[in-house]
Amino acid sequence: MEKYYISTAIAYTSAKPHIGNTYEVILADSIARYKRLKGFDVYFQTGTDEHGEKIAQKAEQAGVTPQEYVDDIHEEIKNIWDLMNTSYDKFVRTTDLNHVKVVQKIFKKLYEKGDIYKGKYEGLYCTPCEAFITESQLIDGKCPDCGRDVQLASEEAYFFKLSKYQKQLEDYIESHPDFIQPESRKNEMINNFLKPGLQDLCVSRTSFDWGIKVDFDPKHVVYVWLDALTNYITNIGYSVDNSTDEFKKYWPADLQLVGKDIIRFHTLYWPIFLMALDLPLPKQVFGHPWLLFGANNEKMSKSRGNVIYADDLAKDFGVDAIRYYVLHEIPFSNDGTITYDLLIERINSDLVNILGNLVNRTISMVKKYFDSSITNKGKFSEYDQDLINYINELDSKVEKRMDKLEIGASLDEIFNVLRRSNKYIDETMPWVLAKDEVKKAELESVLYNLLEAIRVCGILLKPYLPETSDSILKQINSDDVSLVYNDANVYSVCDPFILFYRIDKDKKLKELEENKKVS
Ligand code: MSP
Repeated sequence: MEKYYISTAIAYTSAKPHIGNTYEVILADSIARYKRLKGFDVYFQTGTDEHGEKIAQKAEQAGVTPQEYVDDIHEEIKNIWDLMNTSYDKFVRTTDLNHVKVVQKIFKKLYEKGDIYKGKYEGLYCTPCEAFITESQLIDGKCPDCGRDVQLASEEAYFFKLSKYQKQLEDYIESHPDFIQPESRKNEMINNFLKPGLQDLCVSRTSFDWGIKVDFDPKHVVYVWLDALTNYITNIGYSVDNSTDEFKKYWPADLQLVGKDIIRFHTLYWPIFLMALDLPLPKQVFGHPWLLFGANNEKMSKSRGNVIYADDLAKDFGVDAIRYYVLHEIPFSNDGTITYDLLIERINSDLVNILGNLVNRTISMVKKYFDSSITNKGKFSEYDQDLINYINELDSKVEKRMDKLEIGASLDEIFNVLRRSNKYIDETMPWVLAKDEVKKAELESVLYNLLEAIRVCGILLKPYLPETSDSILKQINSDDVSLVYNDANVYSVCDPFILFYRIDKDKKLKELEENKKVS
């Protein structure tokens, strides 16, 4: 079985994650589930990034120790990932003892090798991002990543010789066109960072101590990004002297999904750390766009009062409706938007009208006209072959989209078949056929073809809408997993039940307003 290692960024345990952070894990989950469906031996890793000054400050404000603080938020994050039905194989924490020990050994190895050296750092520092920023990177005098003020800072520190690997990295990026995706992000990295030249990176801090101690110089803690990035290898058994079989099997990762704001860390620093450790680089780092809030496309932030959380959304609309919305609405390379208005419209138009109605109408007719049991009675009209073609082409269409990580477009392909099926009902008019005893076989074939469309779509929906997929397959009561039209199934369907309820938009918006969820 071919292996497939997919990871997400590990979330900061500084605060409860909003729907934007959650999007990344749902996205990764849909890919992991898809690869499993396609027979890959998938390893899906996610987790929490628990060290750093910002987290220590938050703990102090909350009057608890940093460890207590991260234990709490870690639990909250994991619960949200679980609630959203993400099928990770491992949820990692950077405070795990094994991770801490391996990071210390990596630091020492790189120091002994001469890639890390001791010096003094003076520069502009962004505390929320835990990053020193150069003058040229500032945007309007502020941090280019978070837009906040930076401070002058000076400290004795260890540095990593990024410049030593610059050429090797440039060659690698050039000879591996898929390494950084999408293309626009790659160009951004080359033009904004590689062309001006990489400066050596400060990889230790002495100004706070909530981090992994440099074991041979314990007043230093390891720079949080060196600590965090290595999670991708420490947790599958990397060791500087004797890595595990799991590591040998799964590394290099096939896909590392990260948000566009942290692509720099993953496509410049991370590959260079790996080169210094003589390890192969991930096959692809994909910088996904962001989910923004409201009609004005704002960044979600507590201070703006526009943060929405996945657990609240799930309570109001259901897990699969939220998964559908974020997977469908966030395009491949541009930012997406979430508003309650758009969300309700999508649910009503796609999940209720197109998907839910098709399944419900079809199963209800099978029950009504054939006492729930049907088989195929052959072809009767030109519409049959067209629908069958749609069904048979779906698997490869979805695969092409998924190979390019165009998740929203994959869902569109499935919904095109569902739409085609609804049109087939209008064309064949089963309720008319039902009035004519002579047309009984034709009616049975029509419903059979519809069940086949629902079956194949139901299976292919699993990566995106896992619970809905299970409900569909349960209702049609089929264990045929083939992704093509099968003319020899014997259907005995269960009683129909509603997959998605229509939402009264005005009423719901008013209700959300009263509960202060609409800002
Ligand atoms: N801890 C670092 C990552 C270290 S990886 C070795 C971090 N954490 S984070 O909690 O701030 O972000 C986690 C992920 O969520 C990042 O990939 C980030 O880009 C993503 N997102 C944060 N806000 C987002 C949206 N509004 N929309 C989509 N993704 C967003 O960065």
